[in-house]
Amino acid sequence: MHLTKQEERVYNGEYGWAYQIAMKILVRLGDLFGATQLIPISSAHLSGVSYKILGDAPLEFLEALASTETKVQVASTTNPSSLDPEYLSTKFSEKQRKKQVHVLDLYKRIGATLTLTCTPYYLEEPKQGCHLAWSESSAAIYANSVLGACTNREGGPSALAAALIGKVPNHGLHQPENREPNILVKVEASLQNQMEYGALGSHVGRLLKDKVPLFTGLPTPSKDELKQLGAGLASSGMTCMFHYQKRVHEQKLETITVEAKDVKNEIENLSTISLEAPELVFIGCPHCSLNEIRKVAQLIEGRKVKGETEFWVCTSGHIKQKAKKYVDVIEKAGGHVLSDTCAIVTWIKDLQIYRVATNSAKAAHYTPTLNKAEVTLASIEKCVAVACS
Ligand code: F3S
Repeated sequence: MHLTKQEERVYNGEYGWAYQIAMKILVRLGDLFGATQLIPISSAHLSGVSYKILGDAPLEFLEALASTETKVQVASTTNPSSLDPEYLSTKFSEKQRKKQVHVLDLYKRIGATLTLTCTPYYLEEPKQGCHLAWSESSAAIYANSVLGACTNREGGPSALAAALIGKVPNHGLHQPENREPNILVKVEASLQNQMEYGALGSHVGRLLKDKVPLFTGLPTPSKDELKQLGAGLASSGMTCMFHYQKRVHEQKLETITVEAKDVKNEIENLSTISLEAPELVFIGCPHCSLNEIRKVAQLIEGRKVKGETEFWVCTSGHIKQKAKKYVDVIEKAGGHVLSDTCAIVTWIKDLQIYRVATNSAKAAHYTPTLNKAEVTLASIEKCVAVACS
């Protein structure tokens, strides 16, 4: 990799060990993937915020980092934590709460913004064509495919390194030629709802590995449907970009076809139990948009969540504030609108939750592994119906 004089000084430790380590991580990655230079980024999105997922091991490094004067060089948003500020904050042990608060404090000290959401693009949409270092897979694929920004699927350490330097190695999806579709996915199923878009993504993601697909047969998907498609794709495979608008050379591409039965099978395969008596109904993976919260409010208005059922709608603090009147409707019905967290990154087992219903293919994918719970994938309508008496 060719470094500028200034980058070399950072690499040689003139600005302290923390920037030096960050630069070394970026150069190592650049060398591995054949990049020749670093390019500036507009923002970073940092994962590794939930104490449940993080554990104690990386804390020492974050503590050492925060004890220096090291600061992020670009706007740096953060992924969800293990707690929301209201409903869940009293439900876990003092140790869990204190550790999570400590992690947040460390990120704050290095200058990251505690947005605590996996949908940072609802707070501020990155500009088309700008370069990013985003480490939440559902956010990275949305930024590339729907917003036209450029990011690789960063890991927690590489996104943090990029945030501290303000640059990324120029490879992968930062280069226009790697953003072109190289496989055609013909969808011969008429998708009925967001949940089915997520299931389509999950099915196709497994087949694609890291290819860039062009979908045909999706009439006019909404942004919420595209969000589910991307989250599904990224949860079962390594794909970090898709196309859904017609392109000129599509007939020359290798092609796979998806039929209605493939989507149906995927829904069944992701569901480990039938939709009966879940202890938790979870909407909001990835975090809900304003539209999605409005939809849940419309569906639940005038109904009542069963006494023995938890009904969670997860979103960012930013969207929750904007959705005040819908939040009131959902909470009046006995549901909870949680900000800053989600059912995957908090300790649902400690709440004796072993059966979950969700409308998200990504959440269905991770519930059995990260939460050791059973799961059913169902539409928002069915999720609301099963939660209410
Ligand atoms: Fe977000 Fe949690 Fe899903 S962090 S993408 S809601 S697993």
